Amino acid sequence: MEDRAAYGIHRIYSVLLLFSFSLCPLLCRGSWMWLGVTALGVPEKMGCANLPLSSRQKDMMCRRKPHLLPSVKDGARLGIAECHAQFRHERWNCSTTKQPSVFGYELTSGTKETAFIYAVMSAGLVHAVTRSCSAGNMTECSCDTSLQGTGSPSQGWHWGGCSDDVQFGTSFSRKFLDYASVNGSTAKGGDALIAMNQHNSEAGRQAVAKTVLTDCRCHGVSGSCAVKTCWRTLAPFDRVGRFLKERYENGVHVLHRSRRKVRRKDKDRRRLPVGKEELIFLNKSPNYCLEDRRAGVVGTRGRRCSRTSAGPDGCNLLCCGRGYNTHVVRSVERCECKFVWCCYVRCRRCESMSDMHTCK
Ligand SMILES: *[C@@H]1O[C@H](CO)[C@@H](O)[C@H](O)[C@H]1NC(C)=O
Ligand SMILES: *[C@@H]1O[C@H](CO)[C@@H](O)[C@H](O)[C@H]1NC(C)=O
Ligand SMILES: *[C@@H]1O[C@H](CO)[C@@H](O)[C@H](O)[C@H]1NC(C)=O
Repeated sequence: MEDRAAYGIHRIYSVLLLFSFSLCPLLCRGSWMWLGVTALGVPEKMGCANLPLSSRQKDMMCRRKPHLLPSVKDGARLGIAECHAQFRHERWNCSTTKQPSVFGYELTSGTKETAFIYAVMSAGLVHAVTRSCSAGNMTECSCDTSLQGTGSPSQGWHWGGCSDDVQFGTSFSRKFLDYASVNGSTAKGGDALIAMNQHNSEAGRQAVAKTVLTDCRCHGVSGSCAVKTCWRTLAPFDRVGRFLKERYENGVHVLHRSRRKVRRKDKDRRRLPVGKEELIFLNKSPNYCLEDRRAGVVGTRGRRCSRTSAGPDGCNLLCCGRGYNTHVVRSVERCECKFVWCCYVRCRRCESMSDMHTCK
């Protein structure tokens, strides 16, 4: 009976997914990202063959490297959570849905936001796979041993321990994401968008490599630190997120070209090459102020803002000058806590009122 129910659910999912695939061939290119928003256990129930992946990705995940599927899911979750965190105070707050397109319109709009999404998702994949390598969960990768035994004994340190090896994760992310996006529909502007997405996915991989840190541990008599063992370690993912957010803010507007080479739109700087770590975009972003369903913009109405902040979360900027509503919210907290002999803490309940502001 349970089996039949599970089968039913999986059938419904498959039909829904197939349906949305046929509706949005371009959108669904990003749909491996869906693994980052789906409930735990659902992909397993659906069966690998029914996942919203390209046929190449399915071949990789279901046949050749099924043990990598958990890392792909972790990577997608990591990327999505970081996008939420980096943009929580902005007009575009990286909202996501449970649809295969996850980020909706922004996945294909060719804007700076599209650029950030591709970069952070690709970086998430490298990060998750690399961590899994270092944890000893994979047969094809482990810690980076190439550094072992070298270092600078005269300066009192040497490489040792487990250095994170981003090589495998990086090359996996390339294979998994780039080939996946080469094939598929090439709607108008599709080629330029594909080239843009690939560039930004690579920028995400570079960001993981660029932010790798060195950690050391001291040895020697009572903390004298006469000898140090050092290893390379991935930066926490929020550090990668901040790195990419800076690239997003300095994103490079490039020309619509189907050729692979990217060129700046800015005439005066056209000769300046575009670096691998830079994020590039084709189209200017909307201002994200007002709701525009056709363009997939939800607008900032009802968003919570800060009356005193001069940053993007300040009411003036976030509400685009429309003004804001003030609500009084009552909150109850534990306060005036005292230690009572022996042994507990007694607190009073204090009520406080505070103002909350939301955009008109
Ligand atoms: C983004 O803002 C909308 C309101 O406009 C809100 O419903 C949504 O939860 C926010 N998303 C995130 C990821 O913070
Ligand atoms: C390694 O595998 C174990 C057991 O499958 C799992 O619990 C753990 O989360 C994995 N670690 C990483 C970093 O993927
Ligand atoms: C694209 O698809 C064609 C056949 O549909 C295949 O021959 C080709 O190898 C694919 N290209 C990539 C890069 O996967």
